[in-house]
Amino acid sequence: MKSPLPSDLKSKTVVVTGGANGIGAAIVDSYARLGANIVIADLPSASSSANKIINSVTGGGRMIFVPADITNWFSMVDLFKTTKSNFGRVDIVVANAGIMETKPFFDFDVDISTGDLKEEPGLARVIDVNLKGTMNSKRIIVCIVAPDLVRNMHDSYDAQDRRELLI
Ligand SMILES: NC(=O)c1ccc[n+]([C@@H]2O[C@H](COP(=O)([O-])OP(=O)(O)OC[C@H]3O[C@@H](n4cnc5c(N)ncnc54)[C@H](O)[C@@H]3O)[C@@H](O)[C@H]2O)c1
Repeated sequence: MKSPLPSDLKSKTVVVTGGANGIGAAIVDSYARLGANIVIADLPSASSSANKIINSVTGGGRMIFVPADITNWFSMVDLFKTTKSNFGRVDIVVANAGIMETKPFFDFDVDISTGDLKEEPGLARVIDVNLKGTMNSKRIIVCIVAPDLVRNMHDSYDAQDRRELLI
């Protein structure tokens, strides 16, 4: 089967959120082998997994780990600033980071002292990461990487930076 990826990504920069583990790590591996520069954007706690990938995968491009939490807007701003200062450009962003709630929805915890039902913070976290985090990723990508897409709404955006963008 023909690969859906371009055959050569030398000099392109790819940011993969949640790139230190699982599906994201496999995506990082695929893009790195095509020669792209890679930014693994993942939680600080994923740094050792990210560094293992950085030390084992070679494809000709450079790879860095940037600690980032997709639910935190300022962290995302830093991520794209750091990417631009290291590689000068962002060409492809894979908004992959996500989490899954493994606890059954109607599995209740009760406060032993009061007998009251406890709130389940895991549920809100799933919404935060999978929805708010992915919206943060897409919004910042369009504003920073492809400002021409919003030029009609905000005339002050500079379209000079236009380039192909895959989200
Ligand atoms: N693996 C599967 O078979 C499968 C199937 C369907 C859907 N999914 C979904 O795909 C997504 C990725 O799955 P996976 O198996 O690769 O998971 P994974 O747990 O192996 O990897 C997810 C990565 O995202 C990172 N991450 C989590 N929260 C983050 C945040 N706030 N900011 C930045 N990074 C964050 C984690 O640190 C981790 O490195 C998940 O949402 C999962 O529910 C996975």
